[in-house]
Amino acid sequence: MGWLKWLLLIVFAVTCACALVKAVSRPHAGQTDLPAYVTSGVFTTAHPTAFLAAKDFLDFHPEHPVQPIAFTHAVHLAKGLQCEFCHAGVDQGPDARIPGVAVCMACHQVIATDRPEIKKIAAYAARGEDIPWVRVYAYSDSAHVKFNHAPHIRAHIQCASCHGDMTKQTTAERKINLNMGYCIDCHRQKRVSIDCATCHY
Ligand code: HEC
Ligand code: HEC
Ligand code: HEC
Ligand code: HEC
Ligand code: HEC
Repeated sequence: MGWLKWLLLIVFAVTCACALVKAVSRPHAGQTDLPAYVTSGVFTTAHPTAFLAAKDFLDFHPEHPVQPIAFTHAVHLAKGLQCEFCHAGVDQGPDARIPGVAVCMACHQVIATDRPEIKKIAAYAARGEDIPWVRVYAYSDSAHVKFNHAPHIRAHIQCASCHGDMTKQTTAERKINLNMGYCIDCHRQKRVSIDCATCHY
């Protein structure tokens, strides 16, 4: 093994140790998990915690994160709902957007109100809070990726070609690794620009 690999290993071990200390010493009642640049209002590209830095370095994304509500795409899609009903931004601009709790309550004010999961949703709404969904697909800021849904939808690229078959998923699963190679392969095939500046800022 070369010295560079050893160096990386040591850096990684130290990062892990820091993350462990952080994890053990973190929870203070009432303290939020917001990154420092959000709470301080000062933007920095540095990672707010060693854990996030390590996560980024290893490109770690859980395939199926645990969500606060056992939402199910399968059931809603089987009822005939369209993606755009909930992800209303998808054909308009860069972000598909996750629907707010008010969208859920539009139906669940009256539908299945006796179920435990629906009661949890109603409680969020009553407290005036949004449901804290965990992001499934998201690039780290350091990758400087600019993605835009709208041109893909206009070009009739199916949601499934990037997100898999949602009719078989409850909460969203990261079925497809949307790495740079995946983007470039299709752009080459469809003769779309592969200039760095098309996808990076
Ligand atoms: C257009 C109406 C509609 C909207 C909007 C809607 N739902 Fe539903 N939801 C339904 C229907 C219909 C069912 C099936 C109920 C049944 O099993 O009889 C359902 C079922 C569910 C279930 C399963 C309940 C159970 O335990 O069996 C969950 C959880 C759920 N919805 C969460 C949500 C969340 C979260 C949102 C907002 C992001 C949402 N729903 C938005 C109509 C809707
Ligand atoms: C060409 C690939 C591609 C297609 C097609 C695509 N998506 Fe995405 N989607 C992505 C990528 C990449 C992200 C992550 C973007 C980021 O983090 O900047 C994403 C993120 C999302 C998110 C998270 C919220 C957000 O606004 O970023 C939702 C929801 C979503 N997509 C829904 C859809 C729906 C619905 C469709 C079809 C109507 C669709 N996507 C089609 C690639 C795609
Ligand atoms: C009833 C509302 C509803 C409908 C209809 C719906 N979604 Fe979602 N979607 C959600 C909610 C709520 C979440 C957040 C929870 C989760 O990750 O599953 C979500 C999450 C996602 C995500 C993961 C976003 C991220 O990066 O965190 C993708 C991708 C997605 N949906 C794609 C689709 C596609 C494609 C369709 C249509 C085939 C669709 N959704 C239809 C409500 C909906
Ligand atoms: C399955 C095919 C496919 C995949 C996968 C795909 N793209 Fe695209 N992309 C297209 C097509 C087709 C267009 C051109 C639409 C048009 O001509 O307006 C496009 C356009 C774009 C544009 C707009 C370019 C412009 O000139 O306005 C951006 C940005 C982009 N893609 C980024 C990405 C990124 C980032 C990924 C990976 C997450 C990705 N694409 C994955 C097919 C794809
Ligand atoms: C079609 C879209 C697309 C094009 C064109 C593209 N990239 Fe990327 N690139 C991405 C995506 C998406 C990622 C993030 C992958 C991930 O995080 O899994 C990425 C990641 C990267 C990374 C890694 C950044 C990090 O910290 O993870 C580098 C470096 C990079 N690209 C450089 C380039 C260069 C240089 C070019 C031009 C020769 C280029 N890219 C063209 C989509 C693209």
